[in-house]
Amino acid sequence: MTHRITVVGTGYLGTTHAAAMAELGHQVLGMDVDAERVSALAEGRVPMYEPGLEDLLRRALASGRLRFTTDPAEVAAFGDVHFLCVGTPQRAGSYAADLRQVDEAVDELAPHLARPALVVGKSTVPVGTAQRLARRLRDRSPAGASVELAWNPEFLREGYAVHDSLHPDRIVFGVSSAVAEATLRAVYAPLIDAGAPVVVGDLPTSELVKVAANSFLATKISFINAMAELCEATGADVTVLSAALGMDPRIGNQFLKPGLGFGGGCLPKDIRAFMARAGELGVDQALTFLREVDAINQRRRARTVDLAREELGGSVAGRTVAVLGAAFKPDSDDIRDSPALEVAVAIHEEGAAVRVYDPKAMGNARRRYPLLDYRDSVTSAVEGADLVLHLTEWAEFRALDPDAIGALVGARRIVDGRNALDAERWRAAGWTYRALGRPS
Ligand code: UGA
Repeated sequence: MTHRITVVGTGYLGTTHAAAMAELGHQVLGMDVDAERVSALAEGRVPMYEPGLEDLLRRALASGRLRFTTDPAEVAAFGDVHFLCVGTPQRAGSYAADLRQVDEAVDELAPHLARPALVVGKSTVPVGTAQRLARRLRDRSPAGASVELAWNPEFLREGYAVHDSLHPDRIVFGVSSAVAEATLRAVYAPLIDAGAPVVVGDLPTSELVKVAANSFLATKISFINAMAELCEATGADVTVLSAALGMDPRIGNQFLKPGLGFGGGCLPKDIRAFMARAGELGVDQALTFLREVDAINQRRRARTVDLAREELGGSVAGRTVAVLGAAFKPDSDDIRDSPALEVAVAIHEEGAAVRVYDPKAMGNARRRYPLLDYRDSVTSAVEGADLVLHLTEWAEFRALDPDAIGALVGARRIVDGRNALDAERWRAAGWTYRALGRPS
C-alpha cells in the first residue's frame, strides 16, 4: 500500500530518506527551509557527496513520486505521515544538543495539521524530546489529539547511506499506540518483507537506542585507541592486537580499527549530548566513561601532531607537510569535526606549510579553513614535501605506489594516521613509516 509521505529537512538523512521512500513506492514530498537546496534537489542534484544517492534521487524524480517544496502548508496538506529529519548539532559553548531545528519544524508544521496524521521523528535527540514534542504537536495542531508522534531512529552511515536505507539491519519504532505501529509497519512493508527485523518500543526507549548505539561505537573505537597508547608505551603493535581481539565473535572486528579516531557530525556530538542529558536527569555518573572516550579520541589527534614533530626533528616550523585526506572518513565530503583537518590546522599553526588534498572534500575544507594550501592532486600535494601525513583512508591513497610517490617528495617520511597503508611495502621502498600504536 502506498502512502503520502513528507520529509522535513533535506540534509544527508532527509534526502536519502525521501528518495528511499519514493523507491519503496510511496508518494513523497520533501521540504526544506533552504530554497536553493530545494531547487537543486528538484533538478536531481545532491548538494553533498554520497555514493549512489544522486542516482536514487533521479530515479525517484523520474518516477513522478518525489517532489520538493519550501512550504509547510503544502507539506501538511499533502502528507499522512511526516518524517522529521532536521539536524541536531552540538549547541555552541555546551555539550548539549541544539534542538532549535526540531522545535521549529514542529512549530511550522503543527498549525497546518488539520486532519489526522502521524509525525515521525528520525533526528537524533536527547531522551525525553519526543514526549515533549508530542505535547507540543497536540497543543498546536487544529487536529489536536488525532496528530500522533512516533520515533523512528536512523542508523545510516555516511558513504553507505543508500545501502543502509534500503537494507537496514534493524528498524526501530518508538510508538504510543497500535495505530502508529501499524502505520509504520505499512510504510516500511517492502523492507520488512525483505527480512529487516523490527524492534518496537516506547518513545524514550527508541530515542535511547540511537544514542546508545553511537556511544557504543565510539567506545569501541576509543577502546582500541587506548590500547594503541599502551602499545606505544611498550613497543607492541595495535594492529596485530586488534586483529586478534576481533576474531573473538563476542568482540567482533568492526569499529576496532585503531588510528586517528572518530569525527563527523554524529559520534562526537552524540556522546556529548548524551552526557549532557544524563546530567540533567541526575544520572551523570552512568556516562562519565564517555568523557574518557572523548578524551582518548582527542588525544589521538594530538599524538598525530607529535609524530609529525618527531619525524621532522622536533619542530614542523618552516617545513612542508603534505596532508592526504580532509573528510572525516573516506567516501564522504563531510568535514564536520574531521580529525584530518584538525591535525592539518594544528600543524599549520605551528608554522608548517601545509598542503591538503582530498578526493571529494576540498570545497568544504577550503570554505572552513581557507588558510591551508589546497592542491588538486596527490602529486601536487607531495611534491618536495618533507613529510606526508595520511589522515583519511580513501581507496585512492591506499592504492598509492610508494616508489612513484617517493620520487616526488623531498624526503621519504610518512605518518599513517589510519593504519591503512601496507607498512612493509612503504618501508621496502625506503620510507620511514610511522603509525599510531605501532613500533617504528
Ligand atoms: C555514525 C554511525 O555509524 C551510524 O550508524 C549513525 O547512523 C550515524 O553516525 C548517525 O548518527 O547519523 P557516520 O558518522 O557516518 O555514522 O560514520 P562512522 O562510519 O560511524 O565513522 C565515524 C568515525 O569513526 C569516522 O571518523 C571513522 O573514521 C572513525 N572510525 C570508524 C575509526 O576511527 N575506527 C573504526 O574502526 C571505525
